[in-house]
Amino acid sequence: MKNIQCKNYNIYINDWSNFKSFVTEMDPTTIFILVDQNTEKYCLLHLLENLDATVQVIRIPAGEQNKNIQTCQHIWTKLLQYGADRHSLLINLGGGVIGDMGGFCAATYMRGIRFIQMPTTLLSQVDASVGGKLGVDLMGFKNMVGLIQDPNAVFIFTEFLSTLPQDQMKSGYAELLKHGLIADKESWSLLSKQDKLDTLDYEILVYESVMIKKTVTEQDPYEKGLRKILNFGHTIGHAVESYWMDSKTPLLHGEAIAIGMVSEAFLSYRIGKISESDLFEIRHSILRLYGHHPKFVKPTEDLIHLMKGDKKNFKGDIRFALLDQVGHACYDIQVESETIEESFLFYKERI
Ligand SMILES: NC(=O)c1ccc[n+]([C@@H]2O[C@H](COP(=O)([O-])OP(=O)(O)OC[C@H]3O[C@@H](n4cnc5c(N)ncnc54)[C@H](O)[C@@H]3O)[C@@H](O)[C@H]2O)c1
Ligand SMILES: [Zn+2]
Repeated sequence: MKNIQCKNYNIYINDWSNFKSFVTEMDPTTIFILVDQNTEKYCLLHLLENLDATVQVIRIPAGEQNKNIQTCQHIWTKLLQYGADRHSLLINLGGGVIGDMGGFCAATYMRGIRFIQMPTTLLSQVDASVGGKLGVDLMGFKNMVGLIQDPNAVFIFTEFLSTLPQDQMKSGYAELLKHGLIADKESWSLLSKQDKLDTLDYEILVYESVMIKKTVTEQDPYEKGLRKILNFGHTIGHAVESYWMDSKTPLLHGEAIAIGMVSEAFLSYRIGKISESDLFEIRHSILRLYGHHPKFVKPTEDLIHLMKGDKKNFKGDIRFALLDQVGHACYDIQVESETIEESFLFYKERI
């Protein structure tokens, strides 16, 4: 059990006793717990067993399609109806959707009440719960409305991962791989060789991955520079994710990021930063875990159009965070459309 100290709050890993005492010391007037139907079913009881207090539960339907202002309105209304005041506490028990939206609601209700993030997916444990980004989607654009604000604490319990579906595990694992590729060569070497993802010791893996995200975001909380390296794989990945967002079988975030990481590793190679053997090793490892996505056929121009509209870009330039070696990244690298198209071909090639 290892805990991580951040500037304004702590991240506790597998530490129920500190959770109990932390909440007791906060002495909130009312404790609210935000859940979706899955975290209500699989995680709520366990949380309640570790809390000596009366709580009010606020329920929302699961899924990214509900991460919007209408659902916030429901959450704010429930807070008001159940008498939440400035001394109340909201515990966000769920994946990144619950964390981003619950945090946003807490940070804005009565101009801000206290909140704790209790992430229950691998993706939210290593990524969404760290770095203070909160918000919701607007008209199909991801995270268009929101703010950056730290929670009072993050409590991660890796035992929650035991009920997570396999595809969600794999999706979150893509972020662990990304953290290795951009900041820790040794961890990349270890993570990229695994194949039985449900048998790994996540207490250690989550700790190491969170340390990487925490170290980066603390140096640059508002993404003026260094924090951009966390976008490795995400410029192309987000475009791929958005492109199929409204289809019957949308890609999970990590599946899209896996495509993005292979393509952006190619860009890193093309600008002369990583060697051909590193490039092939990255593609081989990622495709071994994620396979070639059958959907990735011929949407090249649309994807480039989507990338130009990404809120991280400026005046239509497409800027990337790329690898300058395995385990290290650089950012704000402009790449021409033709090279991006080549990177799609590289992804699509059969080995
Ligand atoms: N704030 C940030 O820095 C940041 C970073 C990355 C991603 N995000 C956001 O996170 C979201 C994606 O997060 P996610 O992948 O956790 O999605 P999610 O919250 O939709 O969770 C995925 C699914 O798993 C279910 N689930 C959650 N915990 C479970 C458990 N323990 N057992 C069984 N089922 C469980 C959920 O109900 C949901 O159906 C996106 O909205 C993304 O924008 C935010
Ligand atoms: Zn991501």
